[in-house]
Amino acid sequence: MIQISNIANGIQTSFTRQLFNMAKEYDDVIDFTLGDPDVQTHDAIKAAACRAIEQGKTRYSQNAGLLELRQTIAKYYNRKEGLSYRPEDEIMVTVGAMEGLYLCLLAMLNPDDEVIIPAPYYVNYTQMVAMCHAKPVIVDNPEVTNLTYRLEDIEHAITPRTRAIMINTPSNPTGRVLSQEMLAGIAEIAMKHDLVVISDEVYKCLIYGKQPWKSIAHIEGMRERTILVNSLSKEFCMTGYRIGYVLGPSEIITAMTKLQENVAACAPLPSQYAAIEALGSTENYSKDMVRIFTERKECIVSGISAIDGLTCREPDATFYLMVDISSTGMNSVDFAIALLKAQHVAVVPGITYGKCCDHYVRIAFTRELDYIREGVKRIDAFMKGLKK
Ligand SMILES: Cc1ncc(COP(=O)(O)O)c(C=O)c1O
Repeated sequence: MIQISNIANGIQTSFTRQLFNMAKEYDDVIDFTLGDPDVQTHDAIKAAACRAIEQGKTRYSQNAGLLELRQTIAKYYNRKEGLSYRPEDEIMVTVGAMEGLYLCLLAMLNPDDEVIIPAPYYVNYTQMVAMCHAKPVIVDNPEVTNLTYRLEDIEHAITPRTRAIMINTPSNPTGRVLSQEMLAGIAEIAMKHDLVVISDEVYKCLIYGKQPWKSIAHIEGMRERTILVNSLSKEFCMTGYRIGYVLGPSEIITAMTKLQENVAACAPLPSQYAAIEALGSTENYSKDMVRIFTERKECIVSGISAIDGLTCREPDATFYLMVDISSTGMNSVDFAIALLKAQHVAVVPGITYGKCCDHYVRIAFTRELDYIREGVKRIDAFMKGLKK
């Protein structure tokens, strides 16, 4: 018998995946679980990937990724965010943001080090920290019920073993952008306690206008202690290309690059060429995203708001909507399972993102308008059924 490690045994399949798998049992399911939009990658980006394959650009690249791609990323972040990183040693290309997050944790953490993860949080963070033999410290205050977290709870969770705080703004699952005051507060805590901030910025490409977004790396004293993680998955609808990137101080990027040699060697080369096209072109290939998702957001928000017993707050960003189910008296798992069984609509129970979210379910509005309308109709029927 092969012995399975404690790490592998300790990993739980997320509720997102569980509901996604359960949804597969129904042929007529409306699946609102995964954040994987149906929007096609732009033809020019697809063509760049195909060209690379045809031209035999299908071998390994440098562990840190093609220099040309790192230069393109440097220009892109500079142009869009006004932040400068050296392509040679401050930028690395990874296999999606996921691998970027994991490699930076692996490069930083020793066994039993602690990483603070404020809830509501992206589910994979906790397991990634555990996969480094370190301890995820979830700051989850069930009394804070409005989908945010409090600075004092973060500060309270700090111990001598704390190494980093992981933040995600705009946030999956809440769709919120952290205010500049919150960011300043997090930065102050990080500087006071000598912590690193890992800033997951994959949704900064999908902000609906009102709330301004700025990376925490802009705050004075933060660039040297911030690791920025981003990817092309959401911005250019390229989830399957598996291209992410990390910007940070050279010591962390150098360490991650050494690890990369032993993990994936490099991100897939045709996808790296596609990424050069996506980020380097003067044409803005992601401009349709905001228009398409604004329409979908309006459709889902107005649909859910019209249902008796459900409420929601319009997301500032992302393609996620948190729906408040408190009036039903059900917890989020019971609600999600009952909804799936009764109406074949799959949503993610809020508890996935922390105890503070157990009176919410998350809807990913990643599909076309008619699909969303049908989902809303069935949720309405489900709510009416509960009252009988
Ligand atoms: C907050 C957040 N970070 C990272 C990722 C992973 O993105 P990638 O496809 O680039 O690995 C996701 C994917 O859903 C996400 O929601």
